[in-house]
Amino acid sequence: MSKLSPEHLRSLIQPDRVHRDVYTDPALFELEMQQLFGKAWLVLGHDSQVKQPGDYFLTEMARQPVIVARDQAGTVRVFHNRCTHRGAMVCHEPRGNVRQFTCAYHGWTFETSGELKWVPLRSGYEPQADQRLASLALPQVARVALYRGFIFASLAAQGPSLQDSLGHMLSSFDDMVDRAPDGEVEVAGGVFKHAYHGNWKLVLENHLDGVHPNYVHASSVQAAREGPDPGMNAGGAAGSEPYHDIAIRQMRQNGAPDPVWESIGVWTTTHGHGYLGDYHDDSRLVSGLDNPVHAEYHRLLTQRLGQEKARKVLAVTRWNSVIYPNCSFMGQFRQLRIVHPLAVDRSVVYTYSFRLKGAPEQMFRDTVAFSNVVNGTASWVLTDDLEVYERAQRGLAGGGTEWIYVGRGLGRDVPDSEQRLRGATGTSEVFIRNQFAAWLEYMTGESAGESTGNKAGDNA
Ligand code: FES
Ligand SMILES: [Fe+2]
Repeated sequence: MSKLSPEHLRSLIQPDRVHRDVYTDPALFELEMQQLFGKAWLVLGHDSQVKQPGDYFLTEMARQPVIVARDQAGTVRVFHNRCTHRGAMVCHEPRGNVRQFTCAYHGWTFETSGELKWVPLRSGYEPQADQRLASLALPQVARVALYRGFIFASLAAQGPSLQDSLGHMLSSFDDMVDRAPDGEVEVAGGVFKHAYHGNWKLVLENHLDGVHPNYVHASSVQAAREGPDPGMNAGGAAGSEPYHDIAIRQMRQNGAPDPVWESIGVWTTTHGHGYLGDYHDDSRLVSGLDNPVHAEYHRLLTQRLGQEKARKVLAVTRWNSVIYPNCSFMGQFRQLRIVHPLAVDRSVVYTYSFRLKGAPEQMFRDTVAFSNVVNGTASWVLTDDLEVYERAQRGLAGGGTEWIYVGRGLGRDVPDSEQRLRGATGTSEVFIRNQFAAWLEYMTGESAGESTGNKAGDNA
């Protein structure tokens, strides 16, 4: 049986365990780049990153460099970052605004719509080359779609539509955008990037994992418990109070007792997606019911939506939503993270912060503070997770046993709608089983049609 045959791939994903090769085998990683990252809808960013005609940013899909640009007519396009002359990347600056893309190698120049506009020394080509040259536009990525301003693309011409692929997860994007008093969000500031020596899956697994905070983050939980209470940062620098409060509250909340984690809820949906319920004390951290800034925010939201709709929007308390295979985001603090696999044991994560348009400016400051507390490379939270990803990768690459065990909650998970399967408790590993069910469908080429999720992972 070939190492990459469907039979062999199926043997790696069992109901309660997964073979370690899926984290460590370079051949499987290459197949993932073709079958999974090369086919799935990937989150690339948000249209506020390309507000004006000529705005663009660079990113990657399945390790391939791409350009996301708004052309002069206002259409968002995604190009392979590859000159049609002799293959150099046509754009190198990570973001900016251009009238055209000009290749640094021999000066070929492309419109923002991709069309080849100019080549040097044109007289050097025979007249019959005209037709060939006219066909050498910048190649576009097969499929591009937007939802509520978020930009997605797929390298595969065929496959489920974006709407079908996201299914129930559309509601997580709705949650993010509906919170804005002006009905829109925008990426504000730049991008935080961090790399780790570990497989890309580790970050998506971690973001729905309600067991790890009490252990991986134990030292920062302890430090936060010993620090001054929120609102008591006497002696802190002027303006540091909100930062201090968010840091203390977030880190103390990571030490919530087991019953909190068991009760928060974890849901999985089709195509490997899923989300975790919120584990915070809403009156203090997320909705900030006692906070005057939030009171003003509620007023502004109610003004636009009316009492009933505003109440419904604020009643949604999701923590991280994972869009398999490359994104995790959360509306409560307006963060979005995109994971880029570089190698089987090397990954980079891009983190973006969003502003709720029309909300008090202090809420954006809270977003930035939260990002620094949780997603910053010098934060007390991310550093714990990065360390454990690297320990996991080293452990998986070592000897001893071939399998990881993902059986927590197996057999007790409950379907609660056509598309969702909920963990019996918030600490069920149903989300990992669901991610690997999708992994198998992509890897064996069975993902082209509609899947119902969880096939391989659950017997509910
Ligand atoms: S490779 Fe781009 S102009 Fe020659
Ligand atoms: Fe963590």
